[in-house]
Amino acid sequence: MGLDLFDLTGQVALVTGASKGLGRAMAVGLAKGGADLALCARDAPTLSVTRKETEKRGVRAEIFPMDVLSRDSVREAVSAVIAAFGKIDILVNNAGVNVRKTTLDLSEEEWDRVLDTNLKGYFLVAQAVAPHMIARNRGKVINISSIFGAVGMNNQLAYASSKGGIVQMTKVMAIEWAPHNVTVNAIGPTYFETPLVATLRNDPERFRFINERTPMGRWGQPEELEGTVVFLASKASDFITGQTIYVDGGWTIW
Ligand SMILES: NC(=O)c1ccc[n+]([C@@H]2O[C@H](COP(=O)([O-])OP(=O)(O)OC[C@H]3O[C@@H](n4cnc5c(N)ncnc54)[C@H](OP(=O)(O)O)[C@@H]3O)[C@@H](O)[C@H]2O)c1
Repeated sequence: MGLDLFDLTGQVALVTGASKGLGRAMAVGLAKGGADLALCARDAPTLSVTRKETEKRGVRAEIFPMDVLSRDSVREAVSAVIAAFGKIDILVNNAGVNVRKTTLDLSEEEWDRVLDTNLKGYFLVAQAVAPHMIARNRGKVINISSIFGAVGMNNQLAYASSKGGIVQMTKVMAIEWAPHNVTVNAIGPTYFETPLVATLRNDPERFRFINERTPMGRWGQPEELEGTVVFLASKASDFITGQTIYVDGGWTIW
């Protein structure tokens, strides 16, 4: 097996939530693999930081502001990506938010914001991008779920509901688009050190609990997602679809 199986040179990857955290780390990983990047999120200045980080790897990277809560914004950004690059080979649906509250404390507005961003947002972006993949009879969709797509946790009602939904969404899209050679898979990360989980990282008791709950005894580092995202974006995974790969130091195995 040659390493060219993982080579992404000449491929175009659209990454949502690319302005920080795991989105930035996966964009850098895809750039290391050789892919050109369409970087999407709401905040242009933080996207510029990701652009600089990816361009260092010798690829082309462009910024496309996108709010996944707005269908019009998603459609405009995807059209702009197609106009600029001519195609999209890889979609990483990653933009996400969380509100940690008990079921009894969570408001309707908070439920809607989490589900609209994490679940409806993935649907809107995939629905806008997939026709361009189907027309070319090739494509790789990678949806970022979570360990809480598989197991439960207190204070995670909206988040876990959205992440479980992503696992199921991935299977349905995979079945529908398989005849068009478009694979759809998900990644389920455990706790990784990003702004999304900064309050937990800074809480010594919670930090210790997460380490102790994890068979491998620690949190993930954002760059540890690079291998999985490159694998799912590359030829190496051409006959894999509808699956969720948990990158979790073993969290979901007990
Ligand atoms: N960190 C973890 O431990 C962990 C574990 C499992 C799964 N995940 C998942 O990984 C993904 C990224 O998480 P993260 O930790 O990297 O979070 P993060 O550091 O808070 O970054 C979230 C990203 O999503 C973007 N975003 C949020 N709302 C958006 C909207 N309405 N439209 C467009 N972009 C939006 C943000 O950019 P703007 O604010 O500029 O729009 C930002 O780029 C999420 O789906 C999360 O659920 C994270």
